[in-house]
Amino acid sequence: MPDKRLPFDGTRVLADLNTLRGIGAYKTGVHKPTFSQAHMRSVEWLVQRLSEAGLTGAIDGIGNVIGISAKSGPKLLAGSHLESQNYAGWLDGPLGVVYALEAARVINPDLSTNGAVEVAAWCDEEGHFGSFLGSRSYVGAITEADIDTARDRSGGKTMREALRDVGLAGRPRTMAERGRYIGYLEAHIEQGRTLESSGLAIGVVTSIVGIWQYRITFSGEQNHAGTTRMDVRKDAGVALARFCVAIDDRFPELSGPRTVWTTGRIALDPGAPSIIPGQAEMLFQIRDDDPGVIDRLENQLRSMAAEVSAHGRCGVAVERLRTGAPAMMDVRFQQTIEAASLAFAGGRSIRMPSGAGHDAQVLATIMPAGMLFVPSIGGISHHWSENTDDADIVTGAQVFVETSRRLLAG
Ligand code: GLV
Ligand code: MN
Ligand code: MN
Repeated sequence: MPDKRLPFDGTRVLADLNTLRGIGAYKTGVHKPTFSQAHMRSVEWLVQRLSEAGLTGAIDGIGNVIGISAKSGPKLLAGSHLESQNYAGWLDGPLGVVYALEAARVINPDLSTNGAVEVAAWCDEEGHFGSFLGSRSYVGAITEADIDTARDRSGGKTMREALRDVGLAGRPRTMAERGRYIGYLEAHIEQGRTLESSGLAIGVVTSIVGIWQYRITFSGEQNHAGTTRMDVRKDAGVALARFCVAIDDRFPELSGPRTVWTTGRIALDPGAPSIIPGQAEMLFQIRDDDPGVIDRLENQLRSMAAEVSAHGRCGVAVERLRTGAPAMMDVRFQQTIEAASLAFAGGRSIRMPSGAGHDAQVLATIMPAGMLFVPSIGGISHHWSENTDDADIVTGAQVFVETSRRLLAG
């Protein structure tokens, strides 16, 4: 039952999300890599909306925006991200930013609610330049040297060049003011099928998975594809393909119930039909919420690489590129989301872990954090066809606003 006290506006939420979808549109989704024109226009759009909502916020030196309220009392930080994966979905990120904006628009002018919602859009959650660079900058986990070495994984532009090109070079980075917030709340599409397949409206996130990423490089011998006999080849591409299959054979017995692993990119060098690849590289990711499982799998990966190097035709090197500790969501935040779901979603909620990474796991290192999910149609995400029913988007927004109000009320 909608609460008549709140001037909540579901139509406005849908309109804002569709406006953001129109910036950098690609089929029914968007193409908004970090610091692209479409990303920056989306961030500028947000700065305008924040100002209309009575919040002051500017884009900082790493591309984050945080809208600050002058209202007294407790503050809740809420948000998500505005860039997308390449040629991907319209809701991964913007949903959480627009929900936070709506919560600020509804709650901050309401003098019967003590305190205010402040709105954040974290830059580069999707990892075009690194790993959660925006939110990690805010919590003080990024150095200038980290920014010096960051480079766009698709275009090769350095982060320094990208910051200069969008006019952010030299701007200060906003750092968290310790003790300012009662916590951080983020909404997101589920990006899986749990909610849809059970007819549920809200996922109450209990933990967020840790993400470990590796570059695995195979060194063989580049040679002519017509004149080099099969028995003397040192084909780095074949070594890589065998390694991928061996991972799938050996990992299951060492995994936990929710461990997942992915080879997301393969590059053969030089990558021509008439040349035996002398080098091959794969980007490999493991996710789990138990660091012990990751340790076991990483050891397995390294011993498989040593085995191939010692007995195979090619050398294999494993380089760890990224680690991310899993995060637990705050128990009071979980209870409050559940109570708000009871009031606005008929109690159709379930507690669940997140297999996707989110800025909330970074914010959780410095303050209590919570997350809620809304259903994803067909469980599809990181693809332009990603979608959620309008009715589910609106229900999720109501639950988000109500959760924010209850958290601030204490
Ligand atoms: C975030 O987008 C992730 O890849 O989990
Ligand atoms: Mn996201
Ligand atoms: Mn994503």
